[in-house]
Amino acid sequence: MHILVTGGAGYIGSHTCVELLAAGYQVTVIDNLSNSKQAALRRVSEITGREPDFVRADLRDRMTLDALFRDRGFDAVVHFAGRKAVGESVQIPLEYYENNVGGTLALCKAMAKVGIRKLVFSSSATVYGDPASVPIREDFPTCPTNPYGRSKLFIEEILHDLYRSDDTWNIALLRYFNPVGAHRSGRIGEDPNGVPNNLMPFIAQVAVGKRSRLRVFGDDYDTSDGTGVRDYIHVTDLAKGHLKALERLSANPGIVPYNLGTGRGYSVLEMVRAFERASGRSVPFDIVGRRPGDIAICYADPGLASAELDWTADLGIEEMVRDTWRWQSQNPDGYE
Ligand code: NAD
Ligand code: UD1
Repeated sequence: MHILVTGGAGYIGSHTCVELLAAGYQVTVIDNLSNSKQAALRRVSEITGREPDFVRADLRDRMTLDALFRDRGFDAVVHFAGRKAVGESVQIPLEYYENNVGGTLALCKAMAKVGIRKLVFSSSATVYGDPASVPIREDFPTCPTNPYGRSKLFIEEILHDLYRSDDTWNIALLRYFNPVGAHRSGRIGEDPNGVPNNLMPFIAQVAVGKRSRLRVFGDDYDTSDGTGVRDYIHVTDLAKGHLKALERLSANPGIVPYNLGTGRGYSVLEMVRAFERASGRSVPFDIVGRRPGDIAICYADPGLASAELDWTADLGIEEMVRDTWRWQSQNPDGYE
């Protein structure tokens, strides 16, 4: 099987390339390197002993895309490419819609042209917005609160319309909870540009001495210790979920959303303490006000993915912080 991986040089994409290559798939990556480095793919080759083909191009470049689909004989597509920073999406919403929605439209048109109709799409738990209760099931109402989240929901809707127009499409909408961690080798991991927005890379940069203190956004939520609770999932478990989804598409399931989470929530302070244990470093922090748009608690009911994809997360918080630390301490400046 030959898989086209869009955005395959990025954080989740590179880990998924490792699992695909290790499982014997042929892999071609298309990425414009707008938020990643080609070094990640060199390290994917180093880990697996196999090389993904790499095409540096924008997904919206229809000429390149059409030529790729015509020449390479792909069997399915795993689609990661897109922009993902919530705050930035509020500042430049049109860029987000153009890239995320426009890229997906270009991709689907190119796929339809050559009759490839198996697609695994990176959606997000952010489509649920602030859920009325937890754990969150796939049939909960969707109500994203920012342009990034809406771009994901619009894409889900577009893919539903596509399926209604032609039910030979098979599409898995994977709603990720909070991806963290790194490959256990320490060779690939998350390499954010500038100041990290997300908790785990921020904690890791404090522990390694790149930043002085963590700011904990609020300790007055209705949670065990007052700090926000999230369903952190190891990126290797997440990557494996994509292989399970690809297998599932061969059974012609139509279009189905799946939560990819562990089903267990941890607070900010629990993550800080776990990281301190794993790294042997202290992570000094200050409690500050809530971050606008944040919710108190978010964790998945991963039952559907377990039942239909035969997928559950194997790795726990200890592996998540251990592998993040290995990556961060061995690559303090990321891929630079
Ligand atoms: P990432 O930024 O590391 O990877 C995305 C990749 O896509 C990058 O390599 C970037 O260069 C590439 N890209 C962006 N626009 C492109 C375009 N127009 N053409 C070609 N390449 C393009 O992000 P990630 O964390 O690996 O996330 C992958 C996907 O998962 C994204 O769609 C993201 O929205 C989604 N997601 C991520 C998270 C998370 O917390 N990391 C959570 C939920 C969903
Ligand atoms: C963020 C995104 C969400 C995306 C998800 C996974 C926002 C508003 N939401 O969610 O759309 O799907 O990442 O990538 O950005 N925290 C701190 N200090 C920090 C950073 C975070 O205390 O410096 C806290 C947050 O308040 C939250 C928890 O840590 O309680 C996790 O934050 P983060 O990693 O940013 O993920 P989400 O808020 O879940």
